[in-house]
Amino acid sequence: MPSLGDFIHTQFLLKIPEPTNSFAGFTVILTGANGGLGKEIAKHLIRLGADKLIFGCRSTERGTQAKRTVEAAAGCNSSIIEVWELDLESPPSIKSFIERAKRLHRLDVVIHLAGVRSFNFEVVYDTERTLAVNNIGTFLLALPLIPKLQETARTFGTTPVMTIVGSALYDMAKYPDKPGEDIFSYFTDKSKVNPWNQYNLSKLIQLYTLIKLASIVDPLHASTPNTHPIVINSVDPCFCETGLSREVSGMTSVVVKAFAAFAARPADDGARQVVQAAGCGRETHGLYLRAGNVQAYKPIAQDHTKTEYLWQVLCKRLRKMDPSILDNLNQ
Ligand SMILES: NC(=O)c1ccc[n+]([C@@H]2O[C@H](COP(=O)([O-])OP(=O)(O)OC[C@H]3O[C@@H](n4cnc5c(N)ncnc54)[C@H](OP(=O)(O)O)[C@@H]3O)[C@@H](O)[C@H]2O)c1
Repeated sequence: MPSLGDFIHTQFLLKIPEPTNSFAGFTVILTGANGGLGKEIAKHLIRLGADKLIFGCRSTERGTQAKRTVEAAAGCNSSIIEVWELDLESPPSIKSFIERAKRLHRLDVVIHLAGVRSFNFEVVYDTERTLAVNNIGTFLLALPLIPKLQETARTFGTTPVMTIVGSALYDMAKYPDKPGEDIFSYFTDKSKVNPWNQYNLSKLIQLYTLIKLASIVDPLHASTPNTHPIVINSVDPCFCETGLSREVSGMTSVVVKAFAAFAARPADDGARQVVQAAGCGRETHGLYLRAGNVQAYKPIAQDHTKTEYLWQVLCKRLRKMDPSILDNLNQ
């Protein structure tokens, strides 16, 4: 768990500069673009020169509304932002999004921002919904986009980036003692689900997956390094005022809102950090950024056994939905 000192520093004292890395000429995919952080991220990407910005939104209506808001604020040409339908709870939706992405001229940056903090228990992909969206849906989309990033690296001599928006709350996750053969199946039982923990756990699982994935795709210290590698990193945007806790209800919701009014930073502060991470280079591959810098993983994320277990369990599930999902990760 972030210490009180760390929390005070990141929420109240830290100065978060505007990102300055150029995205000129880049094509960027941003999932969850219509959310609180999404719109602010989009404004920065346009200011920094992105050529094409694809909003992956499960509601094209909300996506189009966000596009109009961003265009009005950024004063940009209406051809830059495209809204593509993407529901991370639906394999056909993910599949058609990927097929469209494969036809892009180039793909320089993917920001996996879409995520949920579910308080209304529901089973999706044969697991609890927070894990379904933040882990299964997110990586069902992420893995098939990697070859497109690699193709862009080779064609344009650039270093494309995939950024997964994480959370410092990963360190507070309670990992079950005996999750059995498949931790996702374990959480189909409502009695085992603590909604407060579920989000933190999903963010921990994201890191296990990221660490393993980055060790497979263009590892930093490979004996025969790829001449055109990509970057896969993660970033914590700090606690920001957005709609993320919208499913909290009753008195708890009053407390959560009061705490947010006191401690949350504006969404733009979080957006700045995400855009900074998405503009980083190989020095961040497989790593996690917080408060503007790479931060060492806390011991809970450095668990090799859990990393391997999660990778096996997740891949087994992903392969059932997309048998070739692990092919071509290293080109
Ligand atoms: N806000 C914070 O303090 C904070 C801190 C750390 C990390 N984060 C991370 O930042 C990310 C963005 O959250 P936010 O704070 O901007 O919250 P938000 O305003 O609730 O935005 C979440 C976005 O994810 C989309 N989404 C949810 N389920 C989806 C699905 N099944 N398919 C496709 N898109 C889906 C939402 O779309 P709809 O509008 O259709 O629901 C929305 O666009 C999340 O990954 C969150 O974990 C946030």
